[in-house]
Amino acid sequence: MSIAMNVALFLHLAAVAVWVGGMIFAQFCLRPSLADVSPQLRLPLIEAVFGRFLTWVGVAVIALLLSGGFMMARFGGSHAPWPLTLMAVLGVLMMLNFGHLRFAVFPRIRRAVQAQKWPDGARAVDTMRRLVAINLVLAVVTIGAAVYSRGF
Ligand code: HEM
Repeated sequence: MSIAMNVALFLHLAAVAVWVGGMIFAQFCLRPSLADVSPQLRLPLIEAVFGRFLTWVGVAVIALLLSGGFMMARFGGSHAPWPLTLMAVLGVLMMLNFGHLRFAVFPRIRRAVQAQKWPDGARAVDTMRRLVAINLVLAVVTIGAAVYSRGF
C-alpha cells in the first residue's frame, strides 16, 4: 500500500474513532447519568457538551469525506467493490443525518436553553437522541461493510 493510502486510511479510522466513540459516550454514558438531573441543569450541560462535540464531528466528517473519496478513487470509483460503495452510501446517509442534527435540531436546543423553555429543549434533546441512535446503527453496518470489503 502506498504512503498516501496509509495516511488516508489513518485519517479515515481516526475520524471514525472520534465520531463513533463520541456517540457511544453520549448515548450510553452521558445520557443515562443525567437522567435524574433537573432540566435546568441538564439541558444547559447537554447544550455545552454537544456544542463542542458537534464541532469535532464536523471535522471528522470532512476527514472521512476527503480520505474516503481519495481511497475510493484508488479503488476504481464507481467500479469499486460493492461493499465499498455500500460504505460510501451509508457514510453519506450518516452525514446527512448529522447535518440535520447539527443545523436543525441542535439550534432548537440552543434556543430553548437561551429562552429557558425546558419542555421545548427536552423534546429537541429526545429527537437528537433518536438521530444519534440511528447513526450508531448505521455506523455498525458501515464498519461491517468496510471489513466485508476486504474479501473482494
Ligand atoms: C463518504 C463516505 C466514505 C467513503 C467514500 C469511504 C471509503 C472507504 C475506502 C475506499 C476504504 C478503504 C478500504 C480498504 O482499504 O480496503 C475505507 C475504509 C474503511 N472505512 Fe470508509 N468510507 C466512508 C465512510 C465511512 C464511515 C462513515 C465509516 C464508519 C462509520 C467507515 C469505516 C471504515 C473502516 C472501518 C475502514 C477500514 C476497512 C479496512 O481496512 O478493512 N467509512 N473507507
